[in-house]
Amino acid sequence: MGRVNQLIIARLDSPISLIPQLAGHLVAAGGKRVRPMLTLIAAQLCGYRGGRHVPLAAAVEFIHTATLLHDDVVDESDLRRGLATANAIWGNKPSVLVGDFLFSRAFQLMVEDGSLEVLALLANASAVIAEGEVAQLMTANDAETTEARYLDVITAKTATLFAAAAQIGGVVAERSPAEVDSLRRYGESLGIAFQLIDDVLDYSAREVVLGKSIGDDFRDGKITLPVVLAFQRGDVEERRFWRRTLEQGEQREGDLAHAIELLERRAALADTFIRAAEFSEQARRDLERFAPTPARQAMLDLAAFCVERAY
Ligand code: IPE
Ligand code: IPE
Ligand code: MG
Ligand code: MG
Repeated sequence: MGRVNQLIIARLDSPISLIPQLAGHLVAAGGKRVRPMLTLIAAQLCGYRGGRHVPLAAAVEFIHTATLLHDDVVDESDLRRGLATANAIWGNKPSVLVGDFLFSRAFQLMVEDGSLEVLALLANASAVIAEGEVAQLMTANDAETTEARYLDVITAKTATLFAAAAQIGGVVAERSPAEVDSLRRYGESLGIAFQLIDDVLDYSAREVVLGKSIGDDFRDGKITLPVVLAFQRGDVEERRFWRRTLEQGEQREGDLAHAIELLERRAALADTFIRAAEFSEQARRDLERFAPTPARQAMLDLAAFCVERAY
């Protein structure tokens, strides 16, 4: 991870000073680096001895970082990794353009690697992430969104990159298609669990620990699983509340607190957490075909972390 981080910092560089300034702000703020870690640990799981996984892990994190810059513009978020977002500091225009720059940097790293298989994986993931973010726009403000539709959105916007990150570890180690597919399934289930918890934390985390603003999804009219469940289980009055706040976007002082109360009343956060635990369990099962090594244990631990995390 040290080498991955060094490479990320080196490749942020550009003669256009606003680029390293803006991107460096986000990168230096940290982040959990879960996705590049997945690439490295999957490579280790597969007994890989070469060095290709390092720049490819950096490419994966570049794609993630680019989506964060774009996502914070779309979601109008003002806090990320405990700091003001790039869009809050520099505005939307440079954030979108520097996001494009980071995507391009990711593709430069993949071209240097030279594997069309890896390029296909991450090009596909990038397209699917964008589709997921657009699909999400289309379900926003619709309280009747189904759990299936929500799962499609989070699989696309989040789990696809987790899946690709894990798969790359198997690809560089030249493991069999069946093994690479196990890694894909592990990453996908892990990514779904990760986003389910992200959506719980948006209502229940402590802001200083999470490093993002609580209630962003609510203010945005985003229909996440906690809301889907609370709406389905709500009485007439509760449904009227969800329609006013999320569909009409008419929000007043105290509405977020009331929303959290309704989510608790209908066990919507607890049940979303249980769904996440199920996907995490599925991810763990996808590793059964691999020998019990420290790398496999680390991946099992990562699956547990993605559910237990508070940040
Ligand atoms: C945030 O991802 C975006 C989601 C898919 C929920 P992370 O929670 O991995 O963000 P960082 O990189 O650790 O800040
Ligand atoms: C982000 O989903 C997914 C991507 C970045 C593609 P969210 O909008 O829930 O992520 P946060 O909460 O802003 O990190
Ligand atoms: Mg967001
Ligand atoms: Mg979120």
